[in-house]
Amino acid sequence: MILSAFSPLLRSKLLSNLTLDALMKMDPETAHGATITALRMGLSPQQQGPDAPELATDLCGLKLTNPIGMAAGFDKNAEVPRQLALLGFGMTEIGTVTPRPQAGNPKPRLFRVTEAQGVINRMGFNNEGHDVAFERLRSVQVPASLGVNIGANKDSEDFVADYVLGVNRFAELADYLTVNISSPNTPGLRNLQTDEALTRLLGEVLDARAKAKKRVPVLLKIAPDLDETAMDAIARVILATDLDGVIVSNTTIGRDPVAGMSNATEMGGLSGKPLFPLATQRLAQMRQRVGDLPLVGVGGIHDAQTALAKFEAGANAIQLYSAMVFGGLDLLDRIKAGLVSEVRKAGKKNISEFVGTKTSDWAAGRL
Ligand SMILES: Cc1cc2nc3c(=O)[nH]c(=O)nc-3n(C[C@H](O)[C@H](O)[C@H](O)COP(=O)(O)O)c2cc1C
Repeated sequence: MILSAFSPLLRSKLLSNLTLDALMKMDPETAHGATITALRMGLSPQQQGPDAPELATDLCGLKLTNPIGMAAGFDKNAEVPRQLALLGFGMTEIGTVTPRPQAGNPKPRLFRVTEAQGVINRMGFNNEGHDVAFERLRSVQVPASLGVNIGANKDSEDFVADYVLGVNRFAELADYLTVNISSPNTPGLRNLQTDEALTRLLGEVLDARAKAKKRVPVLLKIAPDLDETAMDAIARVILATDLDGVIVSNTTIGRDPVAGMSNATEMGGLSGKPLFPLATQRLAQMRQRVGDLPLVGVGGIHDAQTALAKFEAGANAIQLYSAMVFGGLDLLDRIKAGLVSEVRKAGKKNISEFVGTKTSDWAAGRL
């Protein structure tokens, strides 16, 4: 094949660009399935060489070679955590997984808002359940930090009990756990973000963690659709526990940044570029409330500048998903290279020196 005339690096770049064009012509969920299949078959580019020391990061005691993670929802069923690590992510988060398998919402349930490089999804926690994910993870070696994002079945009589099952099942296998109470697509789930419900949830989850053989870090993933009073309450509850960190944020139910665009009126959560300002402001506002508790910034990162802005707003590490839909898998390399060059340009030694340098501006909406 003519591609064999090129170096492995160039070949993988050519392949990933060709694939991106083809994927964008498919319906989004088919394109996602094709991407997972390609990754499973080892057809993706792989990182060449180690990460630059400027990117080495400590997150809740986890030593990441770089602070960029694949966000939850891409690899819901733990099919490709190893491949994502080899691609160059410093962490990868599988799930959301629920105790029992569930089909999710009827299709179509995933939409591109192409003009804004946004995505709207109402997948509804489609996943194969704890057992399948557990068996896959048990037999794979992942050369990055592995997060397991746990949730509740839609028809569960006790959401809290489902999270406890998640902790019991994955505490030993995971490098960290994410308690996801912020999906807009499971009715009632976001109510767990309120004071009393969150107190009970975290109490039971952290009790379960304390009984596990290993002390696995537990992070809470919140929605961006919270006002400052709601965030005050969340911060108060969190700070009274030994929760290890917060992921800010999940998708938004708001549509202002995409009003009038194609697919903008589809129900579900909006992610990607149009989510960036809101999610970054919420991140900074959470930073102001939680002292130096580890925070993971997610939402709308699509280049090195937006990645850097998350650190400046207060993130210790970052995750992304939607931008890979529009930018392709080699977006990760571009972001890493951009971050390293920002660290050097600023005369700093490590990306962590940017953490919180612009928190008050982001929190006040000045940026
Ligand atoms: C198709 C899709 C499915 C998602 N599924 C989940 C999920 O199962 N659990 C979760 O915590 N977040 C899920 N998310 C949210 C992402 O993890 C992330 O928080 C959000 O998309 C914002 O990041 P981004 O703008 O980089 O995509 C999903 C996002 C998308 C686009």
